[in-house]
Amino acid sequence: MNASARELAARFDIEKLTGEFYADPYPTYRALREHAPIKLLPNGSYFLTRYDDLVSAYKNTKVFSSDKKKEFLPKYGDSPLYEHHTTSLVFNDPPAHTRVRRLIMGALSPRAIAEMEPDLIALVDRLIETIAAKGNIDLIDDFASAIPIEVIGNLLEVPREEREPLRDWSLAILGALEPVIGPEAFARGNMAVKDFLGYLETLIARRRLKPGNPDRDVLTRLIQGEEDGERLAEKELLHNCIFLLNAGHETTTNLIGNGLVALSDTPAQKQRLIEHPDLIRTAVEEILRFESSNQLGNRMTTERVELGGVTLAPGTSVTLCIGAANRDPRQFPDPETFDIARTPNRHLAFGTGAHQCAGMALARLEGAIAIARFLARFPGYTLNGAPVRGGRARFRGFLSVPCVVSP
Ligand code: HEM
Repeated sequence: MNASARELAARFDIEKLTGEFYADPYPTYRALREHAPIKLLPNGSYFLTRYDDLVSAYKNTKVFSSDKKKEFLPKYGDSPLYEHHTTSLVFNDPPAHTRVRRLIMGALSPRAIAEMEPDLIALVDRLIETIAAKGNIDLIDDFASAIPIEVIGNLLEVPREEREPLRDWSLAILGALEPVIGPEAFARGNMAVKDFLGYLETLIARRRLKPGNPDRDVLTRLIQGEEDGERLAEKELLHNCIFLLNAGHETTTNLIGNGLVALSDTPAQKQRLIEHPDLIRTAVEEILRFESSNQLGNRMTTERVELGGVTLAPGTSVTLCIGAANRDPRQFPDPETFDIARTPNRHLAFGTGAHQCAGMALARLEGAIAIARFLARFPGYTLNGAPVRGGRARFRGFLSVPCVVSP
């Protein structure tokens, strides 16, 4: 067992992932955590798997930079994907990051999120009624993915009839962030950025003519900027809208989908949640920990730094493996067990530090309402076919999950 774990850690290469890894990356993560927690990969980058090392990197933004201009140039060249990813706030350092983040956070205040709750409940209940009438459904298409698209669409007040292409654009743009991409994924990502920009230019022009309420409409808030005159340049505005529309999509779809699959795979925990619906908050945290929707983050060192006894040179690429850190036994007792009442549960599914997810309160609310109401209405839901995985290392979730519900 130990020898094979050692071998697994020694062989690991982010650019040569196997089907086995995509299906279940956790044995590899465990092996890396134990035998090569700061693993040097063949391409010269490092792969980090221990909880404490991730926290150190996330918190030290000066040494572990999020700016991807250098790193993405060989991958994307001078392309729409390059312009998009290097302009969005998540891949920038202060001061560009600070300005955009302040504007976005202002529109995602606890009050603004609380005000979304009634609409969210109504949306989930409408989907549940349609599902009840169907009986045989796809948990992702019919439920999990339908929720975030509406919520983010509402946040930017995208007219309902114009929302359809958003999901495919988002999948194509985020798909291009995989560690290795082929020419087809590259072309699809670039086309999606171009189409998305074209659409947003029209949407923004309309909103400039007819502004919404800046307390609720993130787009109006980003257009108008701050009272002290802080505004976004046109390019920053467009790309950060794309980022925002993407950030809350696939991740939240996966939270809901991964949660309903994990509960179905663990009948005792499912039963426990049915009997104690008040556990929904800790259950959502446990889903986020156990099957983190976003498994990988990236940073680049700006100066020489020592981490866990390894010295990293300036300009070193570092992958932060959230999926591994969230199962680190030094932080989580019995980490491979799915326990919906786990407390404390200081997982890193939303990252931590200056770039910590700006939408986490919204994601938590969506996850709690979707899963709690689905389970209350369909306690006997069962999967009636093999779930199909997205086949991605960075974003962990399902493309489709055949399921049967009885009202
Ligand atoms: C389960 C759902 C979600 C997960 C797991 C998730 C995960 C993450 C993670 C790990 C980061 C940090 C990236 C880094 O430090 O490199 C992040 C950043 C971000 N997320 Fe989320 N996210 C989710 C939902 C959302 C939603 C619903 C929104 C918007 C409404 C959103 C907006 C953002 C934004 C704007 C950032 C960038 C923050 C910054 O760079 O300062 N996310 N998210």
